[in-house]
Amino acid sequence: MIGENILENIAEIVREKTRIPVYGVDVRRILSALQVTDDFWEIIFYSEVTVPAASEILKELDRKGIVKLSGDVIVITEKGYEIIKKFEIPKPYYKKCPTCSGRGISLEDFEEVLREFKKIAQNRPEAIQQYDQGYVLPEVTVSRVALMANKMDLQNKRLLVIGDDDLTSIAAGLSNLPKEVVVLEIDERLVNFINKISEEYGLKVNAEIYDIRNPLPERHYAKYDTFITDPSETREALRLFISRGISGLHGPRCAGYFGITRAEASLEKWYYLQKMLLDMRVVITDMIHNFNIYVNWGYAEKTRAMQVAPVKKAPKREWYTSTMYRIETLEGFVRYNEPAKEDIYEDEESSTV
Ligand SMILES: [Fe+2]
Repeated sequence: MIGENILENIAEIVREKTRIPVYGVDVRRILSALQVTDDFWEIIFYSEVTVPAASEILKELDRKGIVKLSGDVIVITEKGYEIIKKFEIPKPYYKKCPTCSGRGISLEDFEEVLREFKKIAQNRPEAIQQYDQGYVLPEVTVSRVALMANKMDLQNKRLLVIGDDDLTSIAAGLSNLPKEVVVLEIDERLVNFINKISEEYGLKVNAEIYDIRNPLPERHYAKYDTFITDPSETREALRLFISRGISGLHGPRCAGYFGITRAEASLEKWYYLQKMLLDMRVVITDMIHNFNIYVNWGYAEKTRAMQVAPVKKAPKREWYTSTMYRIETLEGFVRYNEPAKEDIYEDEESSTV
């Protein structure tokens, strides 16, 4: 006999264990994903449940005999299929436009930029865990530039890039659209790489070392038209990366871009973020689902994601994605520029550190 509340009961157990908001619906989404994949990382991709929550849900499903964690794969048991039938849980449906992968952006005028960028990126410094790095596919970096160009946020504008393991600054520089690109980055390897490439190619790109925990220096304060960043996703990191970006903007109707995941951020965290944005008197003008797709990074085995994962198999394809946000400032927007108060890299939902 399968109890009526079994999905809610599992959610409650996981909620108590992880302190992450988890509901019966999340258990459903996991059981949905399991019908098309036995790979943990793909389950995260389809279900959009945070990594630590999905891990605990799967372990609890295993304890209850609903799935079986066997070796590297996760399979649905007979009891699992009974539950899927009883609760009418459908398979996931995921089909994006094959031309733009759902980004809604054409790279037609950026083919040359993409070609050059790919060549340059071959020699990029590898992502390291110390700074929670992980970069996107080259097509994505160039798509960001195309997106900003489509919004007229790049043409003859000053662009501030906060943290740039994606090398967005290089792609922006290659497009020759912005008047100036400034990169603030903590990793000396990246700063040197970006400056070297900028000199070699004669780009209007300049990188300098900066720690997000410190206020934005005076010379960068209220100076730029546009910022782009890819924050770590603890609440403190979101607040810092985004408010530093906003502090760099010169006035109303300036734009900011950043990616937010579901893998490390529950919708409750999204709510916190969106409320914070509104409180700073900026509005969200665009959100593009799974715009950013990340290259599987070299340090994956050492991350919390791998430690909490119910099976220890490395991802076989890209699985970590984020929604691209675009915001715009209103009159009276707040430039919050105080020093950091908390740890920026770790909280209950984080998993790539
Ligand atoms: Fe398309």
